[in-house]
Amino acid sequence: MQKGEQLYEGKAKVVYATDDPQRLILHFKDDTSAFDGEKVERLAHKGEVNNKFNAFIMQKLAAAGIPNHFERLLSERESVVKRLEMIPVECVVRNVTAGSISRRLGVPEGMELDPPTFEFFLKNDALHDPMVNESHIRAFGWATEEEVARMKELTYRANEVLKKLFADAGLILVDFKLEFGRFDGQVLLGDEFSPDGCRLWDAQTREKLDKDRFRRGLGGVVEAYQEVARRLGVAL
Ligand code: C5P
Repeated sequence: MQKGEQLYEGKAKVVYATDDPQRLILHFKDDTSAFDGEKVERLAHKGEVNNKFNAFIMQKLAAAGIPNHFERLLSERESVVKRLEMIPVECVVRNVTAGSISRRLGVPEGMELDPPTFEFFLKNDALHDPMVNESHIRAFGWATEEEVARMKELTYRANEVLKKLFADAGLILVDFKLEFGRFDGQVLLGDEFSPDGCRLWDAQTREKLDKDRFRRGLGGVVEAYQEVARRLGVAL
């Protein structure tokens, strides 16, 4: 597979075309950003850890019947994925309160949510990713009713699979964000799943082992990601 032109550079990843029009290469960077790009740092080895972490999770999800774009690891920092037409919304499921739901609703961090909550956010940095609902998504033509239903179904299913996977490793899956796209008429999970896009707490101590360490300046960010990977049995 030949690496082609750079199509897009995001905060944590670079996307390249390939000689196959249906495939892309994702390159995972060490750059880490928070607060809409206000805080940016390079954290040595984060790219490698997230590339391997994402590969592990995507394969677990595919095995559990959640179709996604991941095809194979290409190198320490790169993976081959299917080229999706991305749907510009983020799907967030929460099992425990933290982050923006605590701020928005004035509830303390750490309350169990039963049933888990589901939220859509529009991907728009300039607008700070505002929360949107299903009628907005349909009225503005970002996705069809069927696609909205499929994204919700797949996100809830991913929550069930991942909650158990992390619980077995002594971790609480507090919340996470997924993004979807279209491929061959199907809705597939795209983007990445790594500790950059979810919250994970140690089940005993409730220590944060995710990007909140970076957001809050707690240090030991990549070390925490490596610890999660070690507990899951991800080969780094
Ligand atoms: O900030 P908030 O509490 O809404 O985030 C919910 C979850 O979604 C967190 O795990 C966070 O890391 C993730 N997220 C993300 N990318 C965003 C917004 C949220 O990965 N742009």
